[in-house]
Amino acid sequence: MHGTQNDYTKSPCKMEPGVQDMKIGFIGAGNMAFGLAQGILRAGEVKPENVIVSAPSSNNFGRFQDMGVAVTHSNMEVVTASQLVFLAVKPHLIRTVLNEIVQHVTHKHTFVSVAAGVTLETLENLLPGLPVLRLMPNLPCVVQEGALLFSRGSLARPEEGTLLRGLLSSCGLVEEGPESWIDAHTGMSGSGVAFVYLFAEALAEGGVKMGIPSVIAHRIAAQTILGAGRMLREYGKHPAQLRAEVCTPGGTTIFGLHELERGGLRAATMGAVEAATERARDLSRK
Ligand SMILES: NC(=O)c1ccc[n+]([C@@H]2O[C@H](COP(=O)([O-])OP(=O)(O)OC[C@H]3O[C@@H](n4cnc5c(N)ncnc54)[C@H](OP(=O)(O)O)[C@@H]3O)[C@@H](O)[C@H]2O)c1
Repeated sequence: MHGTQNDYTKSPCKMEPGVQDMKIGFIGAGNMAFGLAQGILRAGEVKPENVIVSAPSSNNFGRFQDMGVAVTHSNMEVVTASQLVFLAVKPHLIRTVLNEIVQHVTHKHTFVSVAAGVTLETLENLLPGLPVLRLMPNLPCVVQEGALLFSRGSLARPEEGTLLRGLLSSCGLVEEGPESWIDAHTGMSGSGVAFVYLFAEALAEGGVKMGIPSVIAHRIAAQTILGAGRMLREYGKHPAQLRAEVCTPGGTTIFGLHELERGGLRAATMGAVEAATERARDLSRK
């Protein structure tokens, strides 16, 4: 499997020449398609007129049309108009959609699936002889702060990985890894967003308990999490080091941290990632 030979620590690469003229399609016009399309257009290399999106209803078309992207009810039209096709429908629809379009697929096509639990093996069986990549984004893509992990199928070359990285650079962090990491990434980062929301809620409720009005407490909690996250990313230090820097001996923070340790926050969070990963694995097997 080529995945084990890759250098997964590579830094993001520049976009390939010719990407300006690349035609990009999305099958499915939901939240994930929107987040990715928005990120691709924000990166500035791809023109909106080179992007096309399909869905059965017009319910989600408005926000794509606002970006200057073409819309259609025909998945076949997306395939014939595009070289790079994102599959952004719910996982149970992947087989139906691919059976519908497969006769229009040619060797100019590369497919990128974001469908949770749909393996590269399944995609390669449904799209024989074609380069296929599996991408797992998370919802903060819609605010350009996503955490994305992709894996290449057996026919996808490193160049296709480089292209995808470049295209999605404005969606947030883009990493490449073996497919075996995808479920853990889903548990840690896809579901992890909800774990952080729970922590935000609890932090704010602590503030409310201590007398801060709820609306303000929630705003402060969101900013605290954003600030801590940015420091983690921008300083590149281990979280334990940043945490130690906030702890004055005998001060407020170490008293609070002791309560969190007593409550088992660390073990509960690790257990949550493990449970969500196992659930993603179960769903992939169904
Ligand atoms: N949301 C997340 O956080 C997240 C994270 C990682 C991966 N994903 C994956 O991303 C994929 C899409 O999720 P989502 O949250 O964007 O879902 P969503 O908002 O429900 O969007 C699904 C889209 O698929 C369209 N659709 C339904 N049947 C179709 C068909 N036969 N042909 C073409 N389009 C069809 C829907 O059309 P209408 O507009 O007419 O309803 C809708 O635009 C899923 O496979 C999911 O596993 C999502």
